[in-house]
Amino acid sequence: MLECQFPKNFLWGVAISGHQTEGNNLNSDWYAWERQGKIMDGNNSGRACGFYHRYQEDIDLAKKLNLNSFRLGIEWSRIEPKRGEFDQKEIQHYRDVLLYLKKNNFKVFLTIWHFTLPQWFAEEVGWEGKESVFYFCRYLEKIIEKFSDLVDFWVTLNEPTMYVGAAYLINIWPPQKKSILKTIQVFFNLVKAHKKSYQLIHQKIKNAQVGIAQNVVYFHSPARSPIDKQLSWLFNHFYNELFHLLTKKFHDFIGLNYYYAYQVTNIKLAKKIRRIIVRSLRKKDLRVEIYPRGIYRLVKMFKKYKRPIYITENGIDDSTDEKRIPFIQETLKWLNQGLKENVDIRGYLHWSLIDNFEWQEGFEPRYGLIEIDYQTQERKPRPSAQIYAEICRENGF
Ligand code: BGC
Repeated sequence: MLECQFPKNFLWGVAISGHQTEGNNLNSDWYAWERQGKIMDGNNSGRACGFYHRYQEDIDLAKKLNLNSFRLGIEWSRIEPKRGEFDQKEIQHYRDVLLYLKKNNFKVFLTIWHFTLPQWFAEEVGWEGKESVFYFCRYLEKIIEKFSDLVDFWVTLNEPTMYVGAAYLINIWPPQKKSILKTIQVFFNLVKAHKKSYQLIHQKIKNAQVGIAQNVVYFHSPARSPIDKQLSWLFNHFYNELFHLLTKKFHDFIGLNYYYAYQVTNIKLAKKIRRIIVRSLRKKDLRVEIYPRGIYRLVKMFKKYKRPIYITENGIDDSTDEKRIPFIQETLKWLNQGLKENVDIRGYLHWSLIDNFEWQEGFEPRYGLIEIDYQTQERKPRPSAQIYAEICRENGF
């Protein structure tokens, strides 16, 4: 008898994104922005992990880990490198990747947008632009037409509120247009984009499963002073639920990306709010706390929406690989507790299969179950990969 047994048909998987792994994403806004010397370790995404050409090798590795599901992203800037011009070769490339996943019996979570934009869209429209939703939906229609037979779960947007904050509020991501007005415009355009995408996918595909991979953070107040407790409550609901509330009827499943929590302790209110926003966006900040229990609180919070929950990302930056397995086990233990309390949790996708390009932090953070040697592009499974594989095979631990 296992200590943590998961339900039959539970999905075990990994998540990756296009720009972070593929390499040479030449027509994207990130590629252009990186060339302005913005990346912390000085290493631009460049050829990244070479997933674009090595996808078969990586999918084979995932198969060896006994996984039954795989989340990946496609790059809009490859598919539509110029406004209105769709690249058939790139579409075929992604079809080949998806076909290979299907051939290996993976359930596929396809992310339509994971932070990067075609350069033309970034320059001429931007998410703040009135026509942004129109262009996004036009691209999505192409995706539906070409890939609908190969996708099980549609993830329209990855972490919309994370993007809004990082790109328009604290100014650490392109387009670095710090402005409250634009923050609001982008936020509401993303809300609209998701709703329209949901409708479009459902018009074309019967019984489609559509959702968002939402960034969630747990705020807790160990000091338990009344003001800390109230603030934690407020932040938990405001930060984690606002986007969901505004798109409430447009989710067939709830996708949660959970990494960390942070403590709300006794500091002055104004400072506290600022710190919390900044810390939650600058994840590298050491004061961020790794707190697996937070996932339990969060799934319980989302239970009221009565939709199946998938953990669409969860992982840890750990080059030593010493913390990864305790972290995964502790997280799974708390998810299991949620299941015992009747929260409908259906899957866990670990971030990530391989080390990858961690946005403004470059290649230094190491999130992979599999290590990448960026000189040789060699893949070396870490010990944690084997243990995770056993958990997936046994459906628990
Ligand atoms: C993002 C990923 C990123 C991960 C780890 C998530 O918020 O969706 O793209 O790699 O965090 O930093």
